[in-house]
Amino acid sequence: MTFRARHLLGIEPLSPPEITSILDLADSYVDLNRRTIKHSDALSGMTQINMFFENSTRTQSSFELAGKRLGADVMNMSMQTSSVKKGETLIDTALTLNAMRPDLLVVRHPSSGAVNLLAEKVNCAVLNAGDGRHEHPTQALLDALTIRRAKDRLHRLTVAICGDIAHSRVARSNLILLGKMENRIRLVGPATLMPAGAAEFGCEIYEDMREGLKDADVVMMLRLQKERMDGGFIPSEREYYHRWGLDADKLAHAKPDAIVMHPGPMNRGVEIDGTIADDINRSVIQDQVEMGVAVRMAAMDLLARNLRAERGRALAEGTYV
Ligand code: NCD
Repeated sequence: MTFRARHLLGIEPLSPPEITSILDLADSYVDLNRRTIKHSDALSGMTQINMFFENSTRTQSSFELAGKRLGADVMNMSMQTSSVKKGETLIDTALTLNAMRPDLLVVRHPSSGAVNLLAEKVNCAVLNAGDGRHEHPTQALLDALTIRRAKDRLHRLTVAICGDIAHSRVARSNLILLGKMENRIRLVGPATLMPAGAAEFGCEIYEDMREGLKDADVVMMLRLQKERMDGGFIPSEREYYHRWGLDADKLAHAKPDAIVMHPGPMNRGVEIDGTIADDINRSVIQDQVEMGVAVRMAAMDLLARNLRAERGRALAEGTYV
């Protein structure tokens, strides 16, 4: 295994072999998850704390199941009722939890960079479950695994990432990962939802959906992130759907075997037509959810191995605290 890091904070620091080793291990967890008995003891005896400062359905339940299937003791902090509401800072909350000696902390936070900051203050492994508009590494890894299994490769594919790119950590982590693996990436959407400097990532930018989808192997739709908008980004939802919503007519411009992805939660009839989202011949949206559990198991398993090795070294040197 080539993955040696202490934390999983983003895709940015990962090398292509590290990405591949996480995905390879995740493949074996897909098999385990399809069995009736889904237990492994990779995290046996370890404590995992999930801290979600933002709402989540898929990511939180997926991290919880992943930890439980690997045998960890999993605790979900309810941030709505925690002392954060009394004004405690993120760092104080983290230091308090750190004193309880968790081994893995899974953190989602609305501010970009908050999870990196927290990782500097604790002794355990930290996994970023999404920070602001910055990164969402396990989402990009689960998307990569979904693509690799559907297309039998993860290179030289044309991937169209469509919609609200500017507010999306999913888009950011995906374009970093897919770029590292040498794919051709197109960003498609209204100019108001394109991040500044998008072209510097080496992607092609399209405002017209039909042109942007032409001959694409993968069509990745994104949610309109209204909670991150302060007005004026789109004309109206109706107009947005007309121009950038994925429907059969627009999808017909992609390759006949193109797959359709969406990280969820979906706004049916805003960024995607419900019939396409449910079409099992095109949509891999449910596969993405399945791959999510396996990828999170793989990531936590690898971090736990590194943590054990690090503690073993510190014990041998007499520096373990
Ligand atoms: C995404 C997120 O939270 O960044 N969802 C997810 O993790 N599945 C995308 C979104 O909220 O639109």
